[in-house]
Amino acid sequence: MKDFKRTLITTALPYANGPVHIGHLAGVYVPADIYARYLRLRGKDVILIGGSDEHGVPITLKAKNEGITPQDVVDKYHGIIKKSFEDFGISFDVYSRTTTDTHYETASEFFKTLYEKGEFVEKTSEQFYDEANNQFLADRYITGTCPHCNSEGAYGDQCESCGTSLNATDLINPVSVISGNIPVLKETKHWYLPLDKYEDWLKQWILEDHKEWKPNVYGQCKSWLDSGLHPRAVTRDLNWGVPVPVEGAEGKVLYVWFDAPIGYISATKELTPDWEKYWKDEESKMVHFIGKDNIVFHCIIFPAMLKADGSYVLPENVPANEFLNLEGDKISTSRNWAVWLHEYLEEFPGKEDVLKYVLTANAPESKDNDFTWKDYQARNNNELVAVLGNFVNRALVLTNKYYKGVVPALGELNDTDRETLAEIASIREQVEKSLENYRFREALKFAMDLARLGNKYLADEEPWKVVKTDEERVKTIMNVCLQITANLAIVFEPFLPFTAEKLRSFLNVEGVNWEDLGRTDLLAAGHQINKPQLLFEKIEDSVIEAQVQKLLDTKKANEMAEAKAAPAKENIEFDDFTKMDIRVGTIIGAEKVAKTKKLLKLEVDTGIDTRTVVSGIAEYYKPEEIIGKQVSILVNLAPKKLRGIESQGMILMAEDADGSLKFVAPTDAVKNGSEVR
Ligand code: MF3
Ligand code: ZN
Repeated sequence: MKDFKRTLITTALPYANGPVHIGHLAGVYVPADIYARYLRLRGKDVILIGGSDEHGVPITLKAKNEGITPQDVVDKYHGIIKKSFEDFGISFDVYSRTTTDTHYETASEFFKTLYEKGEFVEKTSEQFYDEANNQFLADRYITGTCPHCNSEGAYGDQCESCGTSLNATDLINPVSVISGNIPVLKETKHWYLPLDKYEDWLKQWILEDHKEWKPNVYGQCKSWLDSGLHPRAVTRDLNWGVPVPVEGAEGKVLYVWFDAPIGYISATKELTPDWEKYWKDEESKMVHFIGKDNIVFHCIIFPAMLKADGSYVLPENVPANEFLNLEGDKISTSRNWAVWLHEYLEEFPGKEDVLKYVLTANAPESKDNDFTWKDYQARNNNELVAVLGNFVNRALVLTNKYYKGVVPALGELNDTDRETLAEIASIREQVEKSLENYRFREALKFAMDLARLGNKYLADEEPWKVVKTDEERVKTIMNVCLQITANLAIVFEPFLPFTAEKLRSFLNVEGVNWEDLGRTDLLAAGHQINKPQLLFEKIEDSVIEAQVQKLLDTKKANEMAEAKAAPAKENIEFDDFTKMDIRVGTIIGAEKVAKTKKLLKLEVDTGIDTRTVVSGIAEYYKPEEIIGKQVSILVNLAPKKLRGIESQGMILMAEDADGSLKFVAPTDAVKNGSEVR
């Protein structure tokens, strides 16, 4: 492997139209942070770049729906995202955004350079135009009937019912989302990056020169390249984005996927005046951390842009992850099906590392994975508490108990000691190899194995028993345990930074160094350690149940929002309606009908009389809470016997989307017997 002088790590810029969730974290930010922390710990020159992606049509649509400006939308979410990353401990060297002046200049210059070099092709095509609003319509601004599945509300780029990707012109009965008008086709000019021109070069560069890329990444690139590349428009008719810096391009902006990756360059410029050494020097290793939906943009389109310019380095690797699902369903911002980072941080204070641990241990590195709250609890309780926390706590508590916290000297070694010390020494190579190859879950497992080794050593050597017979021997055992603990403080620094910091303070050591990992003399005899606290605490069932309930509530809310009202029944004459005698009455008595689940026996004052009605509402109302309520009652319904009780009329109920029932009642009290008509 080539030894680079410095590393430039980029992380996909999240769209600033919603907060970040565990899917973003597991796919991109947690592994990138581990990698950056690891390299820093080795004393390498490394920068971790991040920022918010603030352009694109969805942001303008959200603004329109909420009656605010796109800038308002991105200001809000950029703020939430940036703060949650900080609090979670993602160690960005810079977290920028794509609405800064620097970015507008950088993206604009980038386009101009390619334009002047003649790297674009200009093409005129017909696109939908909203004449009422005098604007071209982006694909997402057009809806219509899907030509494949006939469902309504398909977008100009995709039908969300059947998943087919579409061209806006494929839609049956297209309608402008903005005005509701029928759009017309109108000619418009755009600039295209001729990807076909780069096809041979890309085939060589990826398929031949980067066979080491992850199979999921390599495979996706191969299938794109095999099916042939075509020119891609890099401009759009839209009023939100970086204006196209060419005369006669008024009302046009750079396509969001053209400007966003340039955001990595802008952010580096904001970080350091020395930005060119990261971007334009062959000694720089650039690595893009992204999710699988970003592969084509980072492996094919952005490299083609960089190549067209000619002065930039290309990515050395793109370790894209697959997706993390949540409790069996795809995470979705619009359906609120997610664990949001800012909410997690609020609801689980001090547990940043627990989430990092779970997301790394279960990272979707080679296939989609599922996050469940049960698994979160199990990994916390059975691994962090029972393995790592338990070992560290026993090592430190016993040292304080036996030696007032002073590290005892190593005495004569037995076979177990020698084997254990040898295993400690071998850890570094394993973890390094995994990290260098972007296998973060494997690396974490090796780190955890060190704590397992410690627990096994303690269980085998039983210092609490030996102390009664051989005090010298106990010194050696505790010394070994403390060396393991000191190694844990190093090896966990990239993965669990808050925990590693606590460990350093318990051990009373300052900075740590990756190169020291594996040493078995990290703590000298006579060194004073501090009193420890617990590293992790058990998470109770009730906490997990509350989170699961929150998701169930979301699911229900989504189902309700999606349920369609039943179509109207056939028309009737007015006379048909007036045959029904509906009155307002008051419930004056209520009790459950014995041996039934659904029925209540009600006494109702109808203003005409007091009568008994049997009503199927027991699942939704308790007898005591409805006494005194006014309701609507059909009083001229022929009486009917139900469970031996004669029911004289029917209470009118509204049935909600989930089947639950609510009374239909006057908004203000009226006289009993008032007619409803
Ligand atoms: N905003 C995009 C997404 O969430 C990612 C942009 S990555 C960049 O899918 F390279 F364009 F910045
Ligand atoms: Zn469809």
